[in-house]
Amino acid sequence: MRVSERVLDRLEREQALDPVAGRAAAFWSTALRSPRLRDLLSGRALGHPLHPAAVIVPAGTLLSATLLDVTGGAGLRPAARRLIGLGLLSAGPAAAAGWSDWLDTDGAERRIGLVHAAANIVGIGSYAVSWWQRHRGASGLATSLAGATALGVGGWLGGHLAYALGVGVDTTAFQRGPADWTDVLATGEVTTALRQVGVDGVPVLLTRADGRIVAINDRCTHRGAPLSDGERDGDCVECPWHGSRFELTSGQVVRGPATRPQPVYEVRERDGRVELRRSEVRALRANPVGPPLTSLRA
Ligand code: FES
Repeated sequence: MRVSERVLDRLEREQALDPVAGRAAAFWSTALRSPRLRDLLSGRALGHPLHPAAVIVPAGTLLSATLLDVTGGAGLRPAARRLIGLGLLSAGPAAAAGWSDWLDTDGAERRIGLVHAAANIVGIGSYAVSWWQRHRGASGLATSLAGATALGVGGWLGGHLAYALGVGVDTTAFQRGPADWTDVLATGEVTTALRQVGVDGVPVLLTRADGRIVAINDRCTHRGAPLSDGERDGDCVECPWHGSRFELTSGQVVRGPATRPQPVYEVRERDGRVELRRSEVRALRANPVGPPLTSLRA
C-alpha cells in the first residue's frame, strides 16, 4: 500500500476524530438549522453540489497570490495582497456549503471531511496572517507558502471524499434498470402506498400519483436512503434520512439537500400486469459491472 493510501486508511479509521466531529456537527447543525439555507447551500438550483464550484474563487485567488509572490517580485506584492483579500472574503460561503454537505456524512466520510476542513482552515488562517503581515509592510511569503501547502492537503482530501468515497456523487449513477419492458407485479398490487420492488438488481419505488402508476428509483440520489421508507405528502415523497423531497411523477428535487433528481422509469399496464423500463445513453450506467464472462473468454 502506498504512503498516501496508508494515511487515508488511517484517517478513515481514526476514532479519536469522532468526539471533535460530534462537537463540530452540533455547532453547524445549529448554525445551519434553516432548511432554506441548507437547500441553498446544497446547490440544488445548480443540479450539483455547490461546494466544489464555490471553492474555485478562494482557491484560485489565494494560490495565484502565492504564484505572484514566488515569480513576480516586489512590484507585484500589492496585486498579491488584493488577491489574498478577495480569497479570504470568498472563503466564507464556500466553507458554509462544505460544512452543510459534511453534516450529512457519517463514519469514514465524516472523519476525512473533518480533516479536509481542518487543513483548509489552517490554509485560510495562514493567508489571513499573510495579508496582515503585508498590511504591516512585511513580505508575508512564508505564511503564503504555508497556506498554499495546507490548501493543497485540503484539496487532496476533498478529492478523496468525492472520487473514492463518493460524497456528493449521485448514488444512482451506476444503476441501470431494465432496458426492455420487464414484468414487475400485478396492477392491483399498486396503491398510493410507497412500495419498493427489485427490478434487475435496482430498487424501484412504485406508487400511484396523478391518477396513474409511477416508478422512480428508490435509492435517494443524495446519500442512498430508501425513499419507500419516507413520508408521502401529496404527489411528493420526503426522504427519511435528511428530508429531501422529490416529485413522484417526475423525480425532480423539490427541496434539498439532494441536488440530483431520481431516475424515472417508463411504466405500462398489460393484461393486469405492471411493466417498466428505462432507456439509457450513459456509458457507465449501461456497463456498470464490466463485460459478461462469455465475451472475456472469446
Ligand atoms: S439520503 Fe439524504 S436526503 Fe435522502
